[in-house]
Amino acid sequence: MKHIAIVTGASSGIGRHFVYRLAKDKTYSQLEEIWIIARRKDRLQQLKQKISQHSSVLIKVFALDLQDKESIIQFKKELEKSKVVVSYLINSAGYGKLGSFFSGDFEEQMGMIRLNVEALSALTHIVLPYCIGGSHILQISSSAAFVPQPHFSIYGATKSFVVSFSRALHQELRKKKIWVTAVCPGPVQTEFFQMALSNPSKKFDASKIGASASSIVKKALSDANKCKEFSIYSPLMQIFYVLSKLVPHRFLLSVFYYFNQRI
Ligand SMILES: NC(=O)c1ccc[n+]([C@@H]2O[C@H](COP(=O)([O-])OP(=O)(O)OC[C@H]3O[C@@H](n4cnc5c(N)ncnc54)[C@H](OP(=O)(O)O)[C@@H]3O)[C@@H](O)[C@H]2O)c1
Repeated sequence: MKHIAIVTGASSGIGRHFVYRLAKDKTYSQLEEIWIIARRKDRLQQLKQKISQHSSVLIKVFALDLQDKESIIQFKKELEKSKVVVSYLINSAGYGKLGSFFSGDFEEQMGMIRLNVEALSALTHIVLPYCIGGSHILQISSSAAFVPQPHFSIYGATKSFVVSFSRALHQELRKKKIWVTAVCPGPVQTEFFQMALSNPSKKFDASKIGASASSIVKKALSDANKCKEFSIYSPLMQIFYVLSKLVPHRFLLSVFYYFNQRI
């Protein structure tokens, strides 16, 4: 049985950094293959080429649109054909779109649910039979999960789903020693905001306040390997998490209503 990792959203940002870390860090030397998934095949091939210069791990490319149910079926068949143990499943594919729900584009709004919720749940379900004691599932949520997000409403709701689903699964699977970790970053310096900004002329510069993708990934893997239920990077986001449990949400909702409208 080959030990593999599966990383979605591997063509950029957080997902790509997970692939770098799994391929380069000796902690993960038991991995024989990393299966990488995203739509942009050229980006995935570039990543494969780059990794092959520094690592012996085999990269298998899957250019799939995870919003499409056929892609999930195709990936399920691929798993069935292969004799593998999945040591790490990292569900990083996702996007958010800021702006009013009322005037937002229908497809963009529904697409967030299909990708951030449906595809993440479907992949988790089809991969679980290949997990064993000691396997890890990292679900990339967001600090946007902590409080409902006016003007980022569907995105925040999808990420709350991911936290709720991950925590429940953590409990369900702990007897099997399959560990599920909800990763909840605040802003990160990736391509995420190119898609998220409702008005591209409004410049929200994530590089000013955002964490680096590599530091998010380092902490997420370290927390996952300690079998933690949550990975929240940075003291600021940890304080935000605590505040979201203490401060009445009606107050926080008005803060986010004001803030999200302006970025
Ligand atoms: N950046 C942040 O500030 C931030 C903060 C909190 C949480 N997050 C979460 O972190 C995760 C990764 O985001 P990121 O920051 O790394 O953003 P990113 O750089 O935009 O990466 C998003 C990834 O998702 C993939 N993807 C998008 N639609 C897809 C589809 N239909 N099928 C398959 N793959 C798809 C993209 O690849 P293709 O376009 O090639 O398909 C890309 O690899 C997301 O779940 C996001 O919600 C991000």
